[in-house]
Amino acid sequence: MKNTKQIMEKYDKYVLNTYKRIPMSIVKAKGSWVWDAEGKKYLDFFPGWAVSGLGHCHPRVVKAVREQAEKLLHVSNNYFSPAQAALAEKIIQSSFKGKVFFANSGAEANEAAIKLARAYGNAVKNNAFEIITMFKSFHGRTLATIAATGQDKVKKGFDPIPVGFKHVPFNDIDALKKEITDKTAAIMFEPVQGEGGINIATKEYMAAVRKLCDEQKILLILDEVQTGMGRSGKIFAYQHYGITPDAMTLAKSLGGGLPIGACVVKEEFTGFLKPGMHASTFGGSPIVCAASLAVFEAIEKDKLLVNANKMGKYFYGELKKLQKKYPIIKNIKQMALMIGVELGKEGDAIVSECLANRLLINCTQGNILRIMPAVIVTKKEINTAIMILDKALKNNA
Ligand SMILES: Cc1ncc(COP(=O)(O)O)c(C=O)c1O
Repeated sequence: MKNTKQIMEKYDKYVLNTYKRIPMSIVKAKGSWVWDAEGKKYLDFFPGWAVSGLGHCHPRVVKAVREQAEKLLHVSNNYFSPAQAALAEKIIQSSFKGKVFFANSGAEANEAAIKLARAYGNAVKNNAFEIITMFKSFHGRTLATIAATGQDKVKKGFDPIPVGFKHVPFNDIDALKKEITDKTAAIMFEPVQGEGGINIATKEYMAAVRKLCDEQKILLILDEVQTGMGRSGKIFAYQHYGITPDAMTLAKSLGGGLPIGACVVKEEFTGFLKPGMHASTFGGSPIVCAASLAVFEAIEKDKLLVNANKMGKYFYGELKKLQKKYPIIKNIKQMALMIGVELGKEGDAIVSECLANRLLINCTQGNILRIMPAVIVTKKEINTAIMILDKALKNNA
């Protein structure tokens, strides 16, 4: 099976068709670059839907995985794993005092947080069970997480949707206050909505939600599946706001390319999920924990937060220059390397033109170009992306 056409034929025959796929097969990658089955090289500014936030096949991750693979791939969660213990310690030392539950994906990390909220409401809030989330949010594709997601498109065809979720407009504290009742167990949102179009929580909103949660004994759950692990310029995006959540969910970049999810629970709420109440067969296996420890090591030792901030600023400046040239760019939304370029029209043609010119980016919500380069990105790579974007904008203005 050598070329994309042959691979696509096998998909047609054997793989369930649940994705809108790009007619391209990536077979090799390194850093910010990927190669297709025909040997063509592309600059990847949307690496693995934010999974390869450290860049593809980072040498530290590859080395850690190789070494761990020689020793132990998997062990059941009924035993104590040194790699899992070390990773939990690292996550807690990098965030807030508490404990970690390990899963395999963002949706599963959110499921754990949802179950924590239910267990908490059940135990101390007279069976409060409702969770308020935001319109345009995205929390995953399991039944509970599509119920949590504030977008109808993910729920279509799956009635009845699990009950217990309400949605409010993002960054609107009055709307949120109106929906709180004695049944509210938690408020859950992304500090920066990714799929929703790079919508950034304001400092005032975050502070007001934290205050509200404290006053009303409601859990504040932040979904950092997309924002976590340095992309925002801090290891976790909530750290820009001077607050701490009661629970935080992680996945995507956490594993440096391997599947891992985590639900981080603040110390005072750790007792609500007791032995037997939640589990995952694969969650936090030695191999993914070793990879994740290498991600933390790379971010720290290679000073990648400094790079994310520096490159984010540089990229923003270059995009601003493009905005002056092309009024079709209405707004640039950015937190370090999480960038949304809002267009006055649909963005698919621009994404396709970038692809034809060997740059991979994404378009969300119809008109927001979502650009999320790896935290190892260089100025030279940004310049290449800007050149390709310039051409695509010129041809589609
Ligand atoms: C903010 C956020 N939460 C949850 C998820 C779901 O993660 P997964 O696809 O790993 O289940 C995503 C995926 O895009 C996400 O962006």
